[in-house]
Amino acid sequence: MIVAESAAEVRAQIRAWKQAGLSVGLVPTMGYLHEGHASLVEKSRSLCDRTVVSVFVNPTQFGPGEDLESYPRDFAHDCALLEERGCDMVFHPDASALYPPDFATYVEICSDMPKQLCGKTRPTHFRGVCTVVTKLFNIVTPNMAFFGQKDAQQLAIIRRMVRDLSMNVEIVACPIVREADGLARSSRNSYLNAQERAAATVLSRSVAVGRDMAARGERDARALVAAMKTVIETEPLARIDYVDAVDGVTMQPVDVVRDGVLVAMAVHIGKTRLIDNFIVGEGV
Ligand code: PAF
Repeated sequence: MIVAESAAEVRAQIRAWKQAGLSVGLVPTMGYLHEGHASLVEKSRSLCDRTVVSVFVNPTQFGPGEDLESYPRDFAHDCALLEERGCDMVFHPDASALYPPDFATYVEICSDMPKQLCGKTRPTHFRGVCTVVTKLFNIVTPNMAFFGQKDAQQLAIIRRMVRDLSMNVEIVACPIVREADGLARSSRNSYLNAQERAAATVLSRSVAVGRDMAARGERDARALVAAMKTVIETEPLARIDYVDAVDGVTMQPVDVVRDGVLVAMAVHIGKTRLIDNFIVGEGV
């Protein structure tokens, strides 16, 4: 497995692969990898000849007071996991390599799509995501890029950015990977102490209730969201940021629960903010 620190090294290798007629898949990550990331690598390997994984804690997607400094990092562990899962190249740039001191160009969706859901409390988050993902696409020039459905709003926004800016990359969505007790895999789960870890299952329990109501024909989005909130409110360590039902493509709030509607939540468990979601009409 190649470990590249500079864009120049990545470009040289990609050129060689493309000259040999090989397709390239990109899995963008912020490291501290887990089975969710491993599933993206596996999907990329099944569809592309070569798989590149970027490991970069992107400062521009963290707001003031968020966990940029404390975000978990373990590059040696990441490399071991990636090597074992058959990744061909890891791109691990330094922040100064992607963001020179006078960096001033951002990519932003200028509608209220990034202001819904997580954007309500993280107003600059998706601008940072779109900017770094654009940079990674420009450096790696992948044929396909792989994103987890857990970050459903991020996925929808990246699809929109790719369409709006005519980017030549196919976006592939991969299902949420869960722990045995239902908790969605996330690098931030490592922040939870034992009591919080037990409490965190309230997100997936709430998702299960919402999914079940939708499957049994509940069409009133307000009733569905209220029932899901009631589940979360039974957990004393949980504080709801939002539970919302939105159109799965535009992220606009909906009144009627139909197939394709995204029901998403962000919940604080202690100091840790976790997200989860389901899409109406799609399997677990
Ligand atoms: O989903 C993530 O881990 C990040 O938002 C991403 C896509 C790697 C951009 O930094």
